[in-house]
Formats: sequence, C-alpha cells, structure tokens
Amino acid sequence: ADMPVVVSMLNSYSGWAAAGIGFTIGNLLLIVTGSLVGASGAILSYIMCKGMNRSIINVLLGGFGTDGGAAVAGPGAADRAPVKAGSPEDAAFIMKNAQKIIVVPGYGMAVAQAQQVVREMADLLKKEGAEVSYAIHPVAGRMPGHMNVLLAEANVPYDEVKELEEINPEFADADVAYVIGANDVTNPAAKTDKSSAIYGMPILDVERAKTVFFVKRGMASGYAGVDNELFFRPNTMMLFGDAKKVTQEIVQSLQR
Ligand code: TAP
Repeated sequence: ADMPVVVSMLNSYSGWAAAGIGFTIGNLLLIVTGSLVGASGAILSYIMCKGMNRSIINVLLGGFGTDGGAAVAGPGAADRAPVKAGSPEDAAFIMKNAQKIIVVPGYGMAVAQAQQVVREMADLLKKEGAEVSYAIHPVAGRMPGHMNVLLAEANVPYDEVKELEEINPEFADADVAYVIGANDVTNPAAKTDKSSAIYGMPILDVERAKTVFFVKRGMASGYAGVDNELFFRPNTMMLFGDAKKVTQEIVQSLQR
C-alpha cells in the first residue's frame, strides 16, 4: 500500500511547486490552485499513513535496502491444512439463524460491484430479526472512503456503518462476520508477525465472531501480498466465487 501514498505525496509536491512558481511570477491563481493541490495531497497521504499505522518517513524510506521479501506471500500457507469451503446455501442457513451479523466489505466487493446485493441480503436478514451492521476499515478498498461511498450508493443506512474503533469490540458478540472481498484488513499477522509487511496496521477482529465467512474467488492474498491464516481457522468457512454471484445465491436461498 506504500505506492499510492508515494503517488499522492508526489501529487502534493507538484501542487507546492506550482504555488512556488505562482509566487515567483506573481500569479495569484497559480498560488491558490497550487496550494489546494499541495494541501489535499498532503492530507490524503496523512490519512492513508494513519490507516496503516505508519509514519510518512517509514513509507517513503522504508523500502530502501530491502528486497521487499516480507510483502511476498510465502508458498507454504496456501498449501497448509485444508480449508473449510461452504456453499451459499450453507451460509444462508447459518445467517438465517444468526442474531448479530457484521458485514466486512473490502476491495473485492468493489471489483464485483456487489454492494447493492449485499444490502438486499441485509434487508432479508433484518426481516428475519437479525441485527446487521457494516465494519469499515480506514484503508479497505483502494482509496480513503471507498467502502463508505459504495455503501451509500446502495442506500445502506448510515447508522449501520461503523468505523474500526467502534465495531471491533462488537465482533465478540457477533454470530457471523461476512467478509466480502476483504483480506489484508482482517489479517491477524498485522498484530503478531513482526516480519509482516502489514505489521502494526490496525485490523478488524473478525476472528472473534462465532462464524467467519470469507467470500473470495480463491486463496489469493490481498494487496499487501501476505497470506491470511484466518482462512485455516476452525470457525472460518470459505465461500469461493465472485462476491456478487455468491451473495446473489445467498439472497435466493434466503428468499426460499
Ligand atoms: P485486499 O487485501 O486487497 O483483498 C481483496 C480480496 O478481494 C483479494 O484477496 C481477492 O481475493 C478478493 N477479490 C478480488 N476480486 C474479487 C471478486 N470479484 N469477488 C470476490 N473476491 C474478490 O483488500 P482489503 O482487505 O480491502 O484491503 C485493502 C488493501 O489495499 C490494504 O492492503 C491497503 O493497505 C491497500 N490500499 C488501500 C488504500 C486505501 S486508502 N483504501 C490505498 C492503496 C492500497 P481473490 O483473488 O481470491 O478473489
């Protein structure tokens, strides 16, 4: 995730450079627009660094002198003990009997454009008497506020959308964590593995829910290239497939 921060820093520099030229040639418009670009780039970089719990110096200089090996997924994890894979019907059955469900959206939900069908699923579950909320990690997706925008587009009520600090204590009471297209933002290696590229990043504690569903197409790692050991936990069920298709099938099962 360092690259977008670097890009937004360079964007910020270009703004400050333009503002500097504005001062040199006495052009007020250039000073104002340059300052706006410079400031917005700097603020965006700060937000992204904060979301990853990293300092800007660490992001800009952290890669020098390393081969980036920590960010590369080791071959071992994907070959580990078999994962428990379930069907959308299994997931629908478990969720129909759940009281508290937390949806954890990530980049894969954006790729699949599954936000609308996720809301339909939540509506059906609420009709069954379940409490549904959405856990938003500050760097889920590929830009700040990515998930908030998608959920707003699907008319998800604002009071059901909760930020990381607010939702994390709630996972322990949740019957189901429905992780749809998210990976790095749930990876406990961020808490335990000092050699991991994501070490120190705050994560969503989905593993504390009674059952965790991971909706993704395969065993691939996320943006940071780090294996996620949650896939192998006994309370995890993998729902392999495109996020929209799997959720649509769950909706159909719930309607039956
Ligand atoms: P990721 O860790 O990137 O994981 C996304 C997962 O979605 C992948 O493992 C992929 O697995 C799955 N996926 C992709 N397409 C899918 C589809 N059509 N249907 C179902 N699943 C699909 O995402 P995240 O958890 O949201 O974390 C975000 C990452 O991006 C973090 O590492 C963050 O640092 C980085 N980042 C964030 C930002 C901001 S500001 N948000 C900016 C730059 C970088 P499969 O291939 O197996 O399906």
